[in-house]
Amino acid sequence: MYNITLIPGDGIGPEVAEAAKSVIEATGVKIRWETVNAGIDVLAKEGILVPDKVFESLEKTRIALKGPITTPIGSGFKSINVMLRKKYDLFSNIRPIKAIPGIAVPFQNVDLVIFRENTEDLYIGVEKTIDEGTAEAIKRITREGSLRIIKAAFAYAHQNHKSKVTVVHKANIMKLTDGLFLQCAREVSKDYPHIQLQEVIVDNMCMQLVMNPSQFQVIVTTNLYGDILSDLCAGLVGGLGVVPGANLGKDMAVFEAVHGSAPDIAGKNIANPVAMILTGAMMLHYLGESDKSYSIYKAVETTILEGKFVTKDLDGSASTKDMTNAIIENISL
Ligand code: NAI
Ligand code: MG
Repeated sequence: MYNITLIPGDGIGPEVAEAAKSVIEATGVKIRWETVNAGIDVLAKEGILVPDKVFESLEKTRIALKGPITTPIGSGFKSINVMLRKKYDLFSNIRPIKAIPGIAVPFQNVDLVIFRENTEDLYIGVEKTIDEGTAEAIKRITREGSLRIIKAAFAYAHQNHKSKVTVVHKANIMKLTDGLFLQCAREVSKDYPHIQLQEVIVDNMCMQLVMNPSQFQVIVTTNLYGDILSDLCAGLVGGLGVVPGANLGKDMAVFEAVHGSAPDIAGKNIANPVAMILTGAMMLHYLGESDKSYSIYKAVETTILEGKFVTKDLDGSASTKDMTNAIIENISL
């Protein structure tokens, strides 16, 4: 029996979190869910954005499945998602981008993993207004922060028999900050002589990714570029509806998909549950339940290949619930 914190989030969060929970349960893995929530809906009901019970549960279970939480744009409160990653030092944001058979995309065989630094860079949120027409933000890169994400990327490449790690930077312009990140990549790569370190400037990387994405295996980069490249890469394999993710620290793991709360489709029972379901599969793998995890991947693949119960973003007309039920039907243990 595993104790796991479930944070449904808002927007499409509760719909896709429920889908992921039911698929995980269908594999037979025994989980005691502790459901807690944060965000604007909670503020309206309980008068607080992030109730203490969220922190208490996370600190007890040390593992969570989390839906997206809306962040106001341009003003208002800071991102709860970013706050949780910083507070618990969840420094590795890992996003596997893998083509799923049956989804029509311009490229076959896309199979890469993004390792995004998750606690530093412009996302430390230190901004100030200098005068009425000028604002500044601090981009902070540290040696320690860079080394640990780069080491995680190389360790993953080694364990999974990958021959190349691509470090993405803009060190031609940001010589000190991105320069430090790049320098750390060169240092770590010395411990892995059998793995090629490829250095690519972020603008060129965007072009390479949309022209020939299959050349990449493991990508490691700073927070902002990692955020942007994640959505770009999601677009290569069918969109945000199918890409899972994990935020890993030393002693805590929060599993969440790449997508946000998708207010444009929230509450309509049309969101694609696959991203969150595969996020759940990543969580089972992390728990050592690799067979159960694999059975979810296979069930998703089968459901998409059959094509009968897929959501609108994959050119189908199934609801979130119909697609979830089809995936559950396709689980073979
Ligand atoms: P988004 O990822 O929510 O949506 C972008 C586009 O993709 C929309 O057209 C949406 O309908 C579509 N989409 C996303 N997930 C989908 C799914 N599962 N099935 C089908 N279509 C899907 O990004 P957006 O609109 O820029 O941000 C909305 C809100 O989400 C913002 O408040 C943002 O701050 C927040 N956000 C939260 C994240 C988190 O909690 N980790 C991550 C990203 C954004
Ligand atoms: Mg993002």
